[in-house]
Amino acid sequence: MVEPIKPSTREEREKWLKEAHYNVFQLKAEQVYIDLLTDSGTGAMSDRQWSALMLGDESYAGATSFYKFEAVVQKLFGMQYVIPTHQGRAAENVLFSYLVKEGDVVPGNAHFDTTKGHIESRKAKAVDVTCDDAKDTQKEVPFKGNVSLEKLEKVLTENKGKVPFMVLTVTNNTVGGQPVSMENIKATVQLCHSFNVPVVMDSARFAENAYFIKTREEEYKDKSIKEIAKEMYEGVDAMLMSAKKDGVVNMGGFIATNNKEWYEGAKLFCIPFEGYVTYGGMNGRDLNALAEGLMENTEYEMLHTRIHQVQYLASLLDEYDIPYQRPAGGHAIFVDADKILSKIPKEEFPAQTLTCELYLEAGIRACEIGYMLADRDPVTRENRFNGLDLLRLAIPRRVYTDNHMKVIAAALKNVYDRRDSITRGVAIEWEAPLMRHFTVRLKRL
Ligand code: F0G
Repeated sequence: MVEPIKPSTREEREKWLKEAHYNVFQLKAEQVYIDLLTDSGTGAMSDRQWSALMLGDESYAGATSFYKFEAVVQKLFGMQYVIPTHQGRAAENVLFSYLVKEGDVVPGNAHFDTTKGHIESRKAKAVDVTCDDAKDTQKEVPFKGNVSLEKLEKVLTENKGKVPFMVLTVTNNTVGGQPVSMENIKATVQLCHSFNVPVVMDSARFAENAYFIKTREEEYKDKSIKEIAKEMYEGVDAMLMSAKKDGVVNMGGFIATNNKEWYEGAKLFCIPFEGYVTYGGMNGRDLNALAEGLMENTEYEMLHTRIHQVQYLASLLDEYDIPYQRPAGGHAIFVDADKILSKIPKEEFPAQTLTCELYLEAGIRACEIGYMLADRDPVTRENRFNGLDLLRLAIPRRVYTDNHMKVIAAALKNVYDRRDSITRGVAIEWEAPLMRHFTVRLKRL
């Protein structure tokens, strides 16, 4: 995929950012020079994926493309029942409509914001059970996305009968694209099952997680990514997939499970929300491209190239001493905004302010994964300031070159060098009651 990118002046960016109410989601893509808002749906499809697009049949029910896609999911994950959806949050909506009830408690290793939104909007509670290592951005441990088994056991013990399932997210996006070890996956599944609680794997970046298992967990070094991926799902009760990440397609998702009862239950919600169960919000041609993307992106070389580009960006930030969640994540670098804009109080949203500064500096659009995204506590309505306040530089798959990484690092260095002169942040003028970061209107203080 080749697209034009257009340089702009600082004056133009100042005007555009003000018009966007200091929320980069409100910018037009053409006002952006390098777009690191997300790695979701922004990857470039391969020659084989484009040719697969030409082969899809578009039957309302029972298309050949569905069966081809279903067979790939069955083979890769060992899950028998497959429901396509148009993206990951749609899969959450379909499955949670069946499984989540008011008053339920759903533990997870840092639920993604839509996952948390789908739980909280059903008046249930999402409880974070990520290991404490993730809280210290400077601590180098290989599997910072891991579940704390102690925290999980406490939630399961204190909420018997109220936990419909646990969400295990691989890689753990919210704490920095950090992987979960195979050992931790197995222990988590075992612990949940000992309480009769099923495990749902949020699988958006499962292939990157498998790459980290191969390269960081000794006994897996000689296994293929496909073998590791299959093993990750052994005993897991269902998977939710946003295929826009590790499926390398621009739109798509699915639910897969071996639980016939869940499948039958979820199907009833798929039809009204997404569409008939053999297309569920997808075109036949897109199912074909997704089947191809899943096969390609579970090859070592593809993942090695991609993750090394992210690590290359990290090495440039190391040269400039810019603090980020260490070690580098799979899909992104998460810059520690709290440590950089240390003069800005939490109430003025340091990471959101850094997002604005980076855009003003060089037209680079990053994403706040911090206090703004954390929303307010649904009961007290207080801001949730207890997590990390990060600026995410998400790298789309097969889109940018290493030269772009140099521009990103240099721009961030320029902001870093003048960090002491940035003393005020942003204030909220208007916010939505849920998932406010997409639409929030801010003013610069
Ligand atoms: N789960 C995880 C771990 C995610 O990162 C996302 C999306 C979703 C679920 C929802 O999937 O977007 O297809 O509806 N993450 C994107 C991101 C948006 O930028 O990290 P979706």
